[in-house]
Amino acid sequence: MVESIFKRLQEIYPEMVNFRRELHMYPELSHQEENTPKKIADFLSQLGLEVRVGVGGRGVVAILRGGKPGKTVGLRADFDALPIQEENDVDYKSRIPGVMHACGHDIHTAALLGVAKALAEVKETIAGNIVFIHQFAEEVIPGGAKPMIEDGCLDGVDVIYGAHVSSIHPVGTIGVKEGATMAAGDTFEIDIFGKGGHAATPHLTIDPIVIGSQIIVNLQQIVGRKVDPIKSAVVSVAAFNSGIGFNVIPDKAKITGTVRTFDEDVRDMIESLIGEMVESTCKGSGATATYKYVRGYPAVKNHPEETKRIEKIANHLFGQANVKQLDPQMGMEDFAYYLQKVPGTFFFVGGNSDLVEKYPHHNPKFDVDERSMLDIGKLFVSAVFDYLSNEVIEESELIET
Ligand code: NI
Repeated sequence: MVESIFKRLQEIYPEMVNFRRELHMYPELSHQEENTPKKIADFLSQLGLEVRVGVGGRGVVAILRGGKPGKTVGLRADFDALPIQEENDVDYKSRIPGVMHACGHDIHTAALLGVAKALAEVKETIAGNIVFIHQFAEEVIPGGAKPMIEDGCLDGVDVIYGAHVSSIHPVGTIGVKEGATMAAGDTFEIDIFGKGGHAATPHLTIDPIVIGSQIIVNLQQIVGRKVDPIKSAVVSVAAFNSGIGFNVIPDKAKITGTVRTFDEDVRDMIESLIGEMVESTCKGSGATATYKYVRGYPAVKNHPEETKRIEKIANHLFGQANVKQLDPQMGMEDFAYYLQKVPGTFFFVGGNSDLVEKYPHHNPKFDVDERSMLDIGKLFVSAVFDYLSNEVIEESELIET
């Protein structure tokens, strides 16, 4: 079964390429996706699947009901683009000024549609159901995952898989990681209110620049002296704004920054520590302050059993040497929300080759080898059969390129 579906995926591959290039030429920004979800829904409807649009806002969810009873697998792809002017010289270059698929979400979408087509053709033989989750707005906070879950996209789903193409890793390789894989990302804002005055008479003022500087220095102790060294975190001040001229001590200052963590207890501790440091520093200097901590996406925590399943499948498909154990990354992904609800795993599929130049994600020259779509497709299809029917791919002859 798996073998014949791989053959179908190969035959469907040119269609995936066309769909990907169409998306690439007409990218749409997060929360502004209109034609993208329409195109996705049209494609899925033509396959005879039950399609729901406007899920949680702009999401598209399709259900494939297998011919036999069984469990339900969720597969997720995101479809938003970025506010970047494309600099690639390719015939499928973005036609929309200042908007570009510079993270590969066009690849994810087209790969998942190919999987939907291949599986829809054999639905009578499938023991269980498959839910295709096409998510809007992954690149911004708040993203699309949370509202889509609230709107029922995970109802009845027993397990979920998601993949991200990687321009850093070569095509034909995969990166997996159990447990905390991507960080929780939060932001903070501290407004300090002192008392302005002449810079020549500082004793008559309450200087928010000096107080702000003390706070920034104190914040450096959090990671260095408060977080368990076995755990990890980032506390970065990214902006410190105050003042207007050489002879005026201003009356206020503003500090903003980001916090990245993998553990909820570390996250909670840092949130309250920053507040305590702001309060105590201001207290000693006569200033007042407001402190705002805004939580972004939680950490992506891959479930061990499902990560092992993908690893096992990848070993068979790509060979053990091409399956890498990844280090945790400080980047964010709202796939985290799905994993808070159901078991699953989020993995990385190599997209770099001689066919494309090597640029990082979110770069104006980002591009990936489209064969990565076939790899994502094979991994998803294999995960579905492995999970639903315990149909393990054992034979090495199944490894195709
Ligand atoms: Ni991305």
